[in-house]
Amino acid sequence: MMDFEKLISQMTFEEKVGQLAQYNANVCMSIDGEITGPATQLGLKKEDVCKVGSVLNFSCVEDMQNIQKTHLENDRNKIPMVFMMDVIHGFRTIFPIPLGLACSFDTELAAECSKMAALEASANGVNVTFAPMVDYARDARWGRVMETCGEEPLLSSRIGAACVKAFQGDDMKNPDNIGACVKHFAGYGGAEAGRDYNTVDLAERTLREFYFPAYKACIDAGAKLLMPSFNSLNGIPSVANKWLMNKVLREEWGYDGVVISDYNALGELITHGVAKNGEEAAKRAFDCGCDIEMCSSAYYHNLKKLVDDGVFNEKDIDAAVLRVLKFKEALGLFDDPYRGASRARADAVTLTKEHREIARKAAARSAVLLKNENVLPFSTDVKSIALIGPFADEHKILGMWKCNGRVEESVTVYEGAKAVLPNTKITVVKGCGNEFNDLDRSGFDEAVKAAKNADVVVLCLGEPMDYSGEGNCRTDIRLPGVQEELAAAVAAVNPNTAALIFNGRPLVLNEIAKTVPAILEMWFPGTEGGSAACDLLFGKANPEGKLTMSFPKATGQCPIYYNHTNTGRPKPVAKDEERLYYNSNYIDCGNLPLYSFGHGLSYSNFVYEDMAIDKAEMTKNSEINVKITLYNDSDKEGRETVQLYMRDMVASVVRPVQQLIDFKKVALAPHERKTVEFTVKEEMLRFWNFENELVSESGEFRLSTGYADHLVHPKMFTLK
Ligand code: GLC
Repeated sequence: MMDFEKLISQMTFEEKVGQLAQYNANVCMSIDGEITGPATQLGLKKEDVCKVGSVLNFSCVEDMQNIQKTHLENDRNKIPMVFMMDVIHGFRTIFPIPLGLACSFDTELAAECSKMAALEASANGVNVTFAPMVDYARDARWGRVMETCGEEPLLSSRIGAACVKAFQGDDMKNPDNIGACVKHFAGYGGAEAGRDYNTVDLAERTLREFYFPAYKACIDAGAKLLMPSFNSLNGIPSVANKWLMNKVLREEWGYDGVVISDYNALGELITHGVAKNGEEAAKRAFDCGCDIEMCSSAYYHNLKKLVDDGVFNEKDIDAAVLRVLKFKEALGLFDDPYRGASRARADAVTLTKEHREIARKAAARSAVLLKNENVLPFSTDVKSIALIGPFADEHKILGMWKCNGRVEESVTVYEGAKAVLPNTKITVVKGCGNEFNDLDRSGFDEAVKAAKNADVVVLCLGEPMDYSGEGNCRTDIRLPGVQEELAAAVAAVNPNTAALIFNGRPLVLNEIAKTVPAILEMWFPGTEGGSAACDLLFGKANPEGKLTMSFPKATGQCPIYYNHTNTGRPKPVAKDEERLYYNSNYIDCGNLPLYSFGHGLSYSNFVYEDMAIDKAEMTKNSEINVKITLYNDSDKEGRETVQLYMRDMVASVVRPVQQLIDFKKVALAPHERKTVEFTVKEEMLRFWNFENELVSESGEFRLSTGYADHLVHPKMFTLK
């Protein structure tokens, strides 16, 4: 173990402040050259560039090696830099966007993908990833829903924790592993109107019940780096929010890891209007335990004055530096500042055949079969197939956080089809564009002709990659352009038509659902997206995904989510399409989503035959055993996510009409019957009461299975 107390005692103040700074790699390239643009914009003196403690956004392993080498030659204390990057869903081998991967409800798959990402990233010089992002999301207009696990806290918690453990492994010093960073704390997904970076006002109870659990699960799983969110939360931006960063994070949760700001979030405190200058921004952020300032220089320019003025004690600075040095030690950087990264190692483990296979499996398991009127799977004996739409032969299917992934390395639907159907005539017709202003219908005739002349048709539709992701929010989440019309024209001439949807958020698919008999939600599936799509279309894989976000019938329903409260005037499900007066409903649209949370079909036919509970009363010290009998009434093996929902019928505050309290994946052979068991414990019934205490209250509860909006086998029990 290093003697960091001694090391810190030997550091100058400027060297200490250097450990609390993170800049883009191009700043640190200035060490041996002239101070370039970014460094001058930050106001750095040349002699201070070598004191920088960490770097993000370098381009290759050689960059990392050169920067680290030059830094160590120039840094008096020989403290290694730490290299960070947004490895969100893959480094070079890209797997589905997190919103898609979460639809697998498969924590083991999420771990396998994260491990693969860590191996590739570490070999290429990355020490820490800014992931998992576990912001809770209910509004599909928000561009960053693609990075989330959706609208269920339990699922986000389990997936997030699995990713942290997979990134970090049993020992972060192992060069196959990387450090995780849980983000964006907190409530970022609650941005008003689904507009990125917008104001967030959420009751403490709502934060604690829905938005907090996944961050806490990641911390409990061992995350030692946390990033506050850009947004103001109940009036104060997270990075300067004492209630959030000191009371909840440090005091209540006991978080003792490092906090790193988001990109220029300290500078944005001035823009938010909660700091009049850099000095006040530095004071407010440091006062909230922000250790590393990313890509702004408020600390660099002001911490010395704040200590000289007695606002902070130098011991406070030392405490922050100590957290950073311990984090670097936990990563093994003092043992090997390069953590074994090299060109040779990078080439040996990056974008390998095995990794492509993992990405292909993940893309298949993340897909959600939304609709299937006996069309899918197609037979591989088809003589001719028409691939129609803007994504028919499109490489841009990686998603916006594609890291070092290269779109040209992705497999398109057309390329996937050629591989699966070597002897089939494949016709590709784009038919129309996928942008808002793509209103040209001149490709329709060729598309309809191709559809008429093909045994089967695959519509390949969606929104462009850059219509989701950071800053990319939409006020109308239908398919852009005239894709709906293209689909209708094509499906009208060939009943054997299925649609693949490529997107980074739930979309309004009403028109497609009216005209196309089968719809397969692919998300942005990553490097092997086309292969996985064809595996699913032709039955080499059986769809198993379940939606983790509700798909609205209209953008105007957003935010829409399954775990809503009943209100005093709930709209009866049976009357959802009727106009009711003086009811909590719209006059022009139902309340229900088109496809709800938990929905997803299979080529198998899973019959939920029964759900039995072993007692109708439980106490705080007992538990209820639940047995759900499932039968695969088909000749196709498949995997099903069995979901267990609960409703607290009466409580001191309103409660959701249903909550997912557990889920398990189960594989069933053809005509196999299995019983899936769950245990209901008192802590699963707890909620935050009006006084913000976590409590369970005696009374009646309802258990059921199936999925949201389609619950089956309800069973009542009482908590005494
Ligand atoms: C971005 C994102 C954050 C990311 C960081 C570094 O603005 O908000 O998620 O990790 O900057 O790229």
